[in-house]
Amino acid sequence: MSEVKVEKIRQHYDAIAGIYDIHYDRPRGRCYHTHISTHVMDALPKGGRLLDIGCGTGLFVEKYVKKSGTAVGIDISRNMIKKARVRCPGSPFTLGTGEGLPFRDNSFDAVSSLLVFTYLKDPQEMLAEAHRVLKPGGSISICTLGKKLLTSGIPAIYQISEKIRVSHVVMKDFGERYYDEDEMYRMFTGAGFCDISVRWCSFAHIDMIDPLFSLAQRMEPFIERRIPQLAYNICVDARKPRN
Ligand SMILES: C[S@@+](CC[C@H](N)C(=O)[O-])C[C@H]1O[C@@H](n2cnc3c(N)ncnc32)[C@H](O)[C@@H]1O
Repeated sequence: MSEVKVEKIRQHYDAIAGIYDIHYDRPRGRCYHTHISTHVMDALPKGGRLLDIGCGTGLFVEKYVKKSGTAVGIDISRNMIKKARVRCPGSPFTLGTGEGLPFRDNSFDAVSSLLVFTYLKDPQEMLAEAHRVLKPGGSISICTLGKKLLTSGIPAIYQISEKIRVSHVVMKDFGERYYDEDEMYRMFTGAGFCDISVRWCSFAHIDMIDPLFSLAQRMEPFIERRIPQLAYNICVDARKPRN
């Protein structure tokens, strides 16, 4: 298994922070991000204080604050954080890693993390940290690209696109790691979480060309309900036990 290249990830997001939002502001990007955000939002309690790990430019923090409670974001990229501060002036953002959270024990009602888990060098440590900062009974919800036949070719695609210098906001050889249901279940259990539920979401991909994206979007609810093997993002929801 290749090593997750943390410094390369940080430098990449620092470099593309200025254009990241353009990717998700286009209609397909907005649909895609809203779709996964809705999955995560629905799994979290209403109200309370949220920590968003790998908050990027604050897309989810903004949605959470509008719909629910207060939120804090943390990210390894200084420039992504700068963008987040402009997007959500009322929310605090911290530069730091998900694997070493600079927050007190039992200080959040909920933890979220969208499109980040594959970048973690030590996902078990991130989950242990999320467990530590959550209050007893607090919830965690993450959504990320999962491991399955459909996504197994992605590392090779990323390596090739880097070699031929395709300019894309996420397509780079970062040594990302993908996990299946059993691996996720084991990691969340190992960190002490309970009520763990693993679901698959997303069939319409942001990089599909247009008529295909619309068709995939119409099929998405059916795929997620009936043929989740074809969905490519894995969402894990869990809770920290009350005692
Ligand atoms: C694909 S972006 C997702 C951003 C945001 N969650 C969203 O939904 O738009 C991945 C983000 O994860 C951050 N990241 C990567 N590894 C991280 C780590 N170990 N700790 C905290 N943030 C990390 C990157 O800097 C980047 O901002």
